[in-house]
Amino acid sequence: MDGASNWIPRRRIRVAIFIALFFAAVAVMGAVQSPWAFLLLIPAAGASVAAFIMLRIRHQLSAGWQQRIHDLVTDRLALAPDATDTVLDIGCGDASLLATVLRRAPDVAATGIDFWGSDWDYAQTACEARLPDVTFRKMDAGHLDFPDASFDRVTSVMCFHEVPAREGAALPGPLTAVAEALRVLKPGGRFVLIDRFRDTGDYGDPARLDAILAAVDDLRRERLVATLGIPWPLNTKRSLGPVDVLTGRRPV
Ligand SMILES: C[S@@+](CC[C@H](N)C(=O)[O-])C[C@H]1O[C@@H](n2cnc3c(N)ncnc32)[C@H](O)[C@@H]1O
Repeated sequence: MDGASNWIPRRRIRVAIFIALFFAAVAVMGAVQSPWAFLLLIPAAGASVAAFIMLRIRHQLSAGWQQRIHDLVTDRLALAPDATDTVLDIGCGDASLLATVLRRAPDVAATGIDFWGSDWDYAQTACEARLPDVTFRKMDAGHLDFPDASFDRVTSVMCFHEVPAREGAALPGPLTAVAEALRVLKPGGRFVLIDRFRDTGDYGDPARLDAILAAVDDLRRERLVATLGIPWPLNTKRSLGPVDVLTGRRPV
């Protein structure tokens, strides 16, 4: 993988291991008082399985799947090697995707935005050190601080489902983020968006996403796990199972 980051932060795995060890220890100590304490081995086993699956997924991502997803996005962005287009990556994380895009088309004018919150091991300063020619800005994907029609290409990978709804907003946060991505795209500009679009817990009624996408040209909607042949457990419902790749153009 390009870069040392991973979509499964080590912290989450440590928490699951801690929970497993905690319940196992309480079960063994409690068994001195009552054999019923062994029931606490059930949550210990559950947390152990969760930790194992997260470790496995982390390994799969680092062993190449995260990079393959970024390669797919770069293919779908369809930039010529000498392109000078403006490209925006929303929720750019550690800038791995932009690094891949710039290897393919070194002269594009790239911008990456992110929250760089404490949930992730990513930082704006690290992005700036990694790609000094790229503009990085701290920004909310649900409220992009760019005028309409600012970019020739807009992309986002596994960010929108994390965007919270604003108070009193009519749309769930992820749908607002999709609408924002399309708003800042120039007429005729191409977008490539990857997210958990099939997860109704994040996106609500699928008809609302369909209504937003009805306004775009050349829409292509693919299931990521099928397109790339992603294996278990990375292809499961809790991981990349409900993830689609949306490609299209803003109408001229
Ligand atoms: C799973 S990581 C993906 C990072 C990157 N897109 C990649 O492909 O490696 C999700 C990213 O979305 C960012 N993010 C989450 N909510 C956000 C928001 N409301 N605004 C901007 N970025 C956000 C996180 O900080 C994190 O960097």
